[in-house]
Amino acid sequence: MNPASHSPALEVKGLSVEFPTRRGMLTALSDVSLTIARGEILGVVGESGAGKSMTGMAVLGLLEPPGRVCAGEIHIGGKRTDNLDNDQMESVRGRMVGAIFQDPLTSLNPLFSVGQQLIETIRLHSDRSRADARAHGIHLLKQVGIPGADERIDHYPHQFSGGMRQRVVIALALAGNPQLIIADEPTTALDVSIQAQITTLLRRLCREQGAGVMLVTHDMGIIAETADRVAVMYAGRIIEIGSVEDVLARPKHPYTRGLMGSIPALGARVERLTQIDGSMPRLNAIPPGCAFNPRCSAVGPRCLKARPVLVPEAQGAVACFIHHGGVA
Ligand SMILES: Nc1ncnc2c1ncn2[C@@H]1O[C@H](COP(=O)(O)OP(=O)(O)O)[C@@H](O)[C@H]1O
Ligand SMILES: [Mg+2]
Repeated sequence: MNPASHSPALEVKGLSVEFPTRRGMLTALSDVSLTIARGEILGVVGESGAGKSMTGMAVLGLLEPPGRVCAGEIHIGGKRTDNLDNDQMESVRGRMVGAIFQDPLTSLNPLFSVGQQLIETIRLHSDRSRADARAHGIHLLKQVGIPGADERIDHYPHQFSGGMRQRVVIALALAGNPQLIIADEPTTALDVSIQAQITTLLRRLCREQGAGVMLVTHDMGIIAETADRVAVMYAGRIIEIGSVEDVLARPKHPYTRGLMGSIPALGARVERLTQIDGSMPRLNAIPPGCAFNPRCSAVGPRCLKARPVLVPEAQGAVACFIHHGGVA
């Protein structure tokens, strides 16, 4: 067996991303570390601006210049990818990692039929004949639950509803048989009634194909229903990580507890907590000490001075002086 097949779908170690600007360096991600096993869904959650998409884009090698990885390593399916050039990374995308974004139309070309796009992607990543690739394309469309796939394959993106279009994007993401899928707010643009269908589909495909999924969302409810583990991000850092069961039942970071107050679906099970006042700091205005300190109701002197790091617990890890009993 190929030794790489034992490695996790994704391993990110100490990843930092910076944006040089005329007024100095902005640090968008600091020391982000996470692992996604094959067949596992890691939810990445946090308010807008937390660095969720940035993390996904860094893994995909799609950071917008001048943004760049300035520290750390990224390994996809055991292969180090953060040091690859654009051509090499292009081949990794699609073959090893698939992407699903909020708006399906960003991933689909309106000028080509779904089949043309599927067949091209399949052939780019395998040596299938055209006919074979088409048959596989139909198979993929069936797999993602598109009725009448034999005919629908020749339709154009605009001929599909939003939910069906996102299914097509998932089929495209699967076309190269990737070990990892980055799904960035994949259901945010969809009707609430369709959201659950898409997340259920993602979950099933992830299990069946043994692919790891990074599911980026601002919605704790989606995490509760879909993910196995969850990483909570704030101001470019992971501030808590653990199993969904554990983090949702016993959130340890005050920010995680605040986010829990915003799960409508779990409202009945989880004690309702007050909403968090204030907002995520801009990158050029991250306060010293704990970045969450201006919004934290239990803030102590140490939180204003020192930056808490993630400390491993029996279950998961949390970066908070209050939790660790040392705010003085
Ligand atoms: N091209 C860019 N240049 C500078 N800063 C950026 C750029 N793109 C995003 N940012 C900043 O990086 C931070 C994280 O953004 P992002 O990862 O998109 O957040 P989200 O968690 O909402 O997905 C935000 O403060 C955002 O303003
Ligand atoms: Mg985002």
